[in-house]
Amino acid sequence: MYAVLLEKGRSFTNPPGKTNMRKTIQNISCIGAGYVGGPTMTVFAAKCPDVRFVVVDSNPEKIAAWNTDNLPVFEPGLLDIVRKVRGKNLFFSPDIDRAIDEAEMIFLSVNTPTKSYGLGKGMAADLKYVERCARQIAEVSRTDKIIVEKSTLPVRTAESIRDIVSDCGNRVRFRVLSNPEFLAEGTAVRDLLEPDRVLIGGEDGPEGAEAIEELASLYANWVPDERIIRTKLWSSELSKLTANAFLAQRVSSMNAVSAICEATGADVDEVAKAVGMDSRVGPKFLKASVGFGGSCFQKDILNLVYLCRHYGLDEVADYWEQVIRINDYQKRRFAKMVIEKLFNTVAGKKIALLGWAFKKDTNDSRETPAMYVAAELLQDQADLHVYDPRVSEERICEDLRFMETWEGWQGSKSLTEAQIQGGVTVHKDPYEAVDGAHAALVLTEWDEFTGYDWQRIHKSMRKPAFLFDGRNILPGRAMSEIGFRVYQVGKSG
Ligand code: NAD
Ligand code: UDX
Repeated sequence: MYAVLLEKGRSFTNPPGKTNMRKTIQNISCIGAGYVGGPTMTVFAAKCPDVRFVVVDSNPEKIAAWNTDNLPVFEPGLLDIVRKVRGKNLFFSPDIDRAIDEAEMIFLSVNTPTKSYGLGKGMAADLKYVERCARQIAEVSRTDKIIVEKSTLPVRTAESIRDIVSDCGNRVRFRVLSNPEFLAEGTAVRDLLEPDRVLIGGEDGPEGAEAIEELASLYANWVPDERIIRTKLWSSELSKLTANAFLAQRVSSMNAVSAICEATGADVDEVAKAVGMDSRVGPKFLKASVGFGGSCFQKDILNLVYLCRHYGLDEVADYWEQVIRINDYQKRRFAKMVIEKLFNTVAGKKIALLGWAFKKDTNDSRETPAMYVAAELLQDQADLHVYDPRVSEERICEDLRFMETWEGWQGSKSLTEAQIQGGVTVHKDPYEAVDGAHAALVLTEWDEFTGYDWQRIHKSMRKPAFLFDGRNILPGRAMSEIGFRVYQVGKSG
């Protein structure tokens, strides 16, 4: 029984023996209205005007926000597209059951964080949200569905999803595809409109191939066919983890080199340029920094490491784990440098943190290096003053509370509520954040920071005025000439 020819909201089944009739998907739902689900479905809706897209989420406040102009996700260019399609063929709804029931294809875009409890704690992906969705789909479905894994998932998760849904006893046929998302935050709209590639993994056999083509035909509205890769399910799932591991590895490689540069007097940007101009290496993702952040890199590498250990591949696990160790080392190294340069103590000293988001052009601060640096400085009793153009005060305090229970920060103890309340002030005006400060720390590469009146900032700060540029976005020599004591990553001070 396979629902194929569809009119809005109704489904028809192929007559027996007529399985080759052309199938056109007209109703698509997406569970999870976060950084992936929202932007992805928005671009799909813009490019597939004849298809109806419904995005649902268990968080009704998030859905309500998607229905305003104050979107829960900040992405350059996103609001313009949302405005064009919302209410036409894109809908944000809290009614998950209905969205499942009406859809022929369901994207799973729920979060898959690192497990914080029980077996695999701190390493494995927590699949409880995915499992919940699969069970709900199994319970509610009355017509056949293609389930598309958009979330980043451990290899062979599709098997578990199929296990859950196929045992529901309602004679509905489910097929599972893996279609990992490669967008990066801050450039999500561009990445979705012009993807380097689209990856679709499907089950072996003609039914799997048919499902792949149904999804591929949607992408064909704007993505050239040579950019659509069709693979086995497991290759697709593993490719996503591997892609993120490779990208993070490049950053950790340059961050490891940055420590050598600081010790030897070499300049990490010069080294990166020389290395990246080799066409076999390429120039991207070689920017040394205070460390990589974001919800994906660490989580996906941990996931890969867990997978390797599961298969007894300990040497391979150790290899990838080192990418994370270097990242932890880099964040810790930066915080230590700040304390050491400020005469070995920051106790009671006003320190301005410019930037909290894990990168520019996003309001996301998951795993931001800023919170690790802040936690370390708070342990040394600093008086922190934070400014970020997009991240809210609530979010910043929540991140620091998360630090209280985080166990991976070697050498640090949990932060107390008193430390957070007494040690952190969040500003809406950057000039207030730096006024009277001993040091300013650039922790996110927001463009606006380069346009600030740094003479004025220097004047307003305590002397000697320290500037720690964790993103190497400011002209070091010019800043020194203003009078700052400048420290940049991978450059000798
Ligand atoms: P997110 O936390 O921003 O969004 C996930 C949403 O799913 C949340 O709003 C949550 O309320 C909702 N949700 C969870 N369980 C639910 C349920 N049972 N029913 C309905 N809604 C539910 O996460 P995200 O950043 O969008 O990431 C989603 C997935 O995409 C993850 O697997 C992630 O690894 C992957 N991914 C993320 C990025 C990125 O840049 N953020 C890029 C590529 C892939
Ligand atoms: C990443 C992947 O790039 C994307 O393909 C995947 O789908 C999701 O995970 P994202 O985490 O949104 O995207 O941002 P990304 O641009 O990869 O940056 C991750 C972190 O690395 C940021 O903290 C960024 O500042 C840092 N970074 C990146 C560097 O420190 N140096 C670089 O050269 C590049």
